Amino acid sequence: MSTPSEPRNHELPSTYIVQDRENQAELARLELQDHLLTTSMGGVLAEQEDPTKLRRVLDIGCGPGGWIIEAATAYPMVNFTGIDISKRMITYARQQAQDKQVAERVDFLVMDALLLLEFPNGYFDLTNLRLGGSLLRTWDWPKMLSEMLRVTRKGGVIRLTDQEIMHRSNSPATTRLNEKVLCAFYQAGHLFEQNSTGITARLPLLLQQYGCNNVQTKAHVLEYRAGTPEGQAYSEDMALASRTLMPFIRKWGCMSEDYEALYQQSLLERQKSDFYATWHFLTAWGSK
Ligand SMILES: C[S@@+](CC[C@H](N)C(=O)[O-])C[C@H]1O[C@@H](n2cnc3c(N)ncnc32)[C@H](O)[C@@H]1O
Repeated sequence: MSTPSEPRNHELPSTYIVQDRENQAELARLELQDHLLTTSMGGVLAEQEDPTKLRRVLDIGCGPGGWIIEAATAYPMVNFTGIDISKRMITYARQQAQDKQVAERVDFLVMDALLLLEFPNGYFDLTNLRLGGSLLRTWDWPKMLSEMLRVTRKGGVIRLTDQEIMHRSNSPATTRLNEKVLCAFYQAGHLFEQNSTGITARLPLLLQQYGCNNVQTKAHVLEYRAGTPEGQAYSEDMALASRTLMPFIRKWGCMSEDYEALYQQSLLERQKSDFYATWHFLTAWGSK
């Protein structure tokens, strides 16, 4: 049953790559992945000149809240707001903020970012969206960016980080599974071109097109090797993703009969002592 505090379209199909908003495995995967990404990117706002000058920061699609909680810990003068469509993510994020003793400067709200951002004009100094390509179809970006610009103050920052869909590795089965994800991303409308950089290549152009000034980028190459804690976490992230993305891959006609065999083979290949993978990301930001 819906309650009045839930978004109006709570029961509508989601544009997100994991349809079930209450999926516990997806929450666990995002938490694991958040640590992997933030650490390898050198911190939460590593490329920003002086984050201590920020007063209010918004994170859209904040998931279990890891990015915000780490940012709130690193920058004790800043107030943070995280929004996510999933009640489960937000409930978990609020609890994490309590546990890490940053709750008084952090607000987590259930909100559908595709409807509108329920904040006043010019309210935030920086508006962040990491992995937005997992919920935005190509035609959703204009509204998303114009809303991000609206809620950011003049001179404030719009910051986007996204992934190349294909990881480069010496595990053929991991690559084959990855190709199915790319296929589904494209068929579902999440890629501007049918290739690995179908989101990242557009980020700076999108920022320019929707009115950001001084657009800059920073590329990140995340490296994972067998026998390291990061390599193990990467492998677990891939294993969880291969499961939670199955309905999405099937829905968009990209499933194959050998999927289960590929999944099992990918687990074995990632445990080999010479396993390595790289995962490429781009952060693009500009000012309003
Ligand atoms: C790939 S996760 C990224 C989480 C986090 N930004 C990070 O980088 O670790 C995308 C998140 O967006 C949320 N989401 C999906 N559709 C949404 C929507 N329409 N409005 C707000 N959040 C949404 C999902 O529940 C999920 O937590």
